[in-house]
Amino acid sequence: MFEKLQKKWKVNGWQLLAILCTFAIGGSLTGIVGRKILQQLPEVHPVGWTILYIITMTLIWPLMVVLVSIPFGQYPFFKNYLSRIFQKMTNTPSSIPPSSNPPSSIPPFSIAIFASGTGSNAQKIIEHFRNHPSIRVALVVSNKATAGVLDKAASAGIPTLLIDKERFFRGDGFVPELTTLGIDFIVLAGFLWKVPPTLIQAYPSRMINIHPALLPKYGGKGMYGNFVHEAVIAAGEKESGITIHYVDEQYDHGGTIFQASCPVFPEDTPETLANRIHTLEHQHFPAVIESVILSKLVKNQSS
Ligand code: GRF
Repeated sequence: MFEKLQKKWKVNGWQLLAILCTFAIGGSLTGIVGRKILQQLPEVHPVGWTILYIITMTLIWPLMVVLVSIPFGQYPFFKNYLSRIFQKMTNTPSSIPPSSNPPSSIPPFSIAIFASGTGSNAQKIIEHFRNHPSIRVALVVSNKATAGVLDKAASAGIPTLLIDKERFFRGDGFVPELTTLGIDFIVLAGFLWKVPPTLIQAYPSRMINIHPALLPKYGGKGMYGNFVHEAVIAAGEKESGITIHYVDEQYDHGGTIFQASCPVFPEDTPETLANRIHTLEHQHFPAVIESVILSKLVKNQSS
């Protein structure tokens, strides 16, 4: 039953728990507050009281649930949930501004972001494509239930998928979910697991990664996060930077799409260098993703 709900609402296990707690606490508060309000009313006929009871509870419930959802970090979910209920009740279609709605003949190009960490790059990518006419971030995938990127996705109202090792490496690589959700393109933004061949073959030339150094130097197994910056500083490099590249079956190896560099100063620590690199990443990654995808869309249209 829980798995069905996770699929229906497109949330991970932690989010589902937070949502269920919100429903439970919100429901109890509705009962308490509703009864307090009804006690203030003068005596009425039982039928009238029942009608009043239903109206009061119906009006208070959404308010209580929204209030409780805030500390649970589930406000974006409940905002959508309640507006969908309202739309169903009033039979109004959801209102999306026409500018963000691509022509119905061209469905939006959907990106899935894979990340294991805080997700500062994912955040920039989500912001970049928020009102894009033909590209949208449709899913955030993580291997870590506590990764900050999952909260960032939830706050932006983007569905998340938590993946497990066994199925990712030795099963179907979660290709069925990605296909069902219509994912066209995968962006690795601080994703620490090696991508299995099943997934790479499902997204040929449609999966890119960002690496915090100038490849081919300082890449490969174990070269992630501060390990990269420590190695760059230890080697006395005067320059480091970022590499955006296609993903193949080796770590940090596929064809380079874009590089940008920055200086390395003698007084740099891995942290100061990491900050400089992050600034470069935020500046370039979303725009590079956009240009790679747009060039694919143009090619598809002309072929
Ligand atoms: C970035 O430095 C990226 O180059 C590397 O992982 C880091 C992710 O950072 N692959 P964040 O989680 O996006 O802040």
